[in-house]
Amino acid sequence: MPAFLIKSVVFLLCLSPAVWLAWQAFNDQLGANPVEVLTHQSGLWTLRFLLLTLAITPLRTLSGWRYPGRLRRMFGLYTFFYALLHFLIYLALDRALFFDDIWQDIAERPYIMIGFTTFLMLLPLAITSNNRSMKRLGKRWKQLHRLVYLCGLGGVLHYLWLVKADLLNPAIYLTIFLLLMLLRIKPITTWLTFRRPSLFSH
Ligand code: HEM
Repeated sequence: MPAFLIKSVVFLLCLSPAVWLAWQAFNDQLGANPVEVLTHQSGLWTLRFLLLTLAITPLRTLSGWRYPGRLRRMFGLYTFFYALLHFLIYLALDRALFFDDIWQDIAERPYIMIGFTTFLMLLPLAITSNNRSMKRLGKRWKQLHRLVYLCGLGGVLHYLWLVKADLLNPAIYLTIFLLLMLLRIKPITTWLTFRRPSLFSH
């Protein structure tokens, strides 16, 4: 399949949760509390795309398969897209743009503070994700983009902190995040790469 076609299909797949949510919202299919569903779903998709972006390097290292690297930027930008959507839903639908309440929320509720900080860290990553910024920033680009690890940590902490009772789901996301971080540690990847089945080594 031509590269352009693969990218277009992946692009549409990544967009589909937002389209599905919008369709459900406009057709009154989100149940008794649509704002809550929108907030939760957009938050979950932000975290899923963030973890997907973080999974690309370990996947490439372990499998030797280079192609997923070409999709990393798209996944990163979709992370920001869903984070922006999540933030706008919170600002406009949950808090009705009452900025006094919003500032109070940020200052007084630790999970909102962590979510907001994570969003602020995602912002420069999205702005500098283009080739021009990469060239202009040189070595500093890589350093700046290490913020993505903190964003991952921020995202899972935000989720862990906001859940009041059942910690299972946030714990699953935390475990995936920690595994993805472990799979970046050189001795671990070297050990695993040495043992990878020949299927992946070509
Ligand atoms: C702009 C800053 C952010 C604000 C103001 C914000 C606010 C919120 C709010 C109000 C909720 C619902 C809490 C509840 O029901 O008690 C929520 C849920 C969530 N947020 Fe955020 N958030 C922000 C950024 C983020 C970011 C950057 C991520 C991911 C990296 C994220 C991931 C999530 C997740 C996974 C949930 C829970 C979904 C669920 O319970 O099913 N949020 N957020």
